[in-house]
Amino acid sequence: MTCDEVSLGVPASDVDKARGALGAPAKVAIVLGSGLSGLADEAADAVVVPYGALDGFPRVGAVAGHAGRLVAGTVAGARVLLFQGRAHLYQGVTALDAAYPARLAAAAGCDTLVVTNAAGGVREDLRPGDLVLISDHLNLMGTNPLVGWPGPEGGFPFVPMRDAYDPGLREVMRETAGSIGIVLSDGVYAGLLGPSYETPAEVRMLRELGADVVGMSTVPEVIAARALGMRVVGLSLVTNAAAGIGLSHQEVLEAGVQAAERMKRLMTAFVACLAAMS
Ligand code: HPA
Repeated sequence: MTCDEVSLGVPASDVDKARGALGAPAKVAIVLGSGLSGLADEAADAVVVPYGALDGFPRVGAVAGHAGRLVAGTVAGARVLLFQGRAHLYQGVTALDAAYPARLAAAAGCDTLVVTNAAGGVREDLRPGDLVLISDHLNLMGTNPLVGWPGPEGGFPFVPMRDAYDPGLREVMRETAGSIGIVLSDGVYAGLLGPSYETPAEVRMLRELGADVVGMSTVPEVIAARALGMRVVGLSLVTNAAAGIGLSHQEVLEAGVQAAERMKRLMTAFVACLAAMS
């Protein structure tokens, strides 16, 4: 199997849509999680491709807060691919399918993947609205996008996951945040299958395991991106205390709305910073 085929079951028609929409190739792809889609509204020269028009995107039903479209456009003067929403394992897709945004971005020539998500705060000092720079993850989803998937050399995909969240990009993100007065703390993201939220006992377990935030996404994309040689940086928006009393999906979305503006500013400044460095 060649590298292109491993890239991974991405139909050429989708690569054409992602690339063609841009004119010039994007180097950076950003996956926007629950309630964080707003950045795409700021993109100039935007071309919108609904996920339903992408031949390789897994067919899943809509979940409130997840827009479901690829927006190719210009942010802070740089060409970017913005994925508004994602397919989640809890919707019944495979981990390989859940990683489709990363695979399409790699196939379209992006070398940097920015992942964002809404997450529950496991660490006790975290409050709704806090932004956490992901330093590492715990894959507790019970699956992996590389199961049965040969690596670029055709061998087995024993992909190193040390520094999966690129130390250099994390530093850039930290400095960017500092320069515009946004506070970030570092944290380990625990990825769980969901869709039920965690029990208090599970939250205690996650704390023991070293998790700071918990969510139901991101891990498959990050693993696939690393397998494809992309650099990754990730941010979690804390929408609630994990196992919070009376937690509803609606509350998660509302907390997202309030902090989404800050996330948008940070992303725009980060993209500008990356563009200035390249
Ligand atoms: N648990 C898991 N996923 C989440 C949560 C949570 O508390 N909040 C937002 N996504």
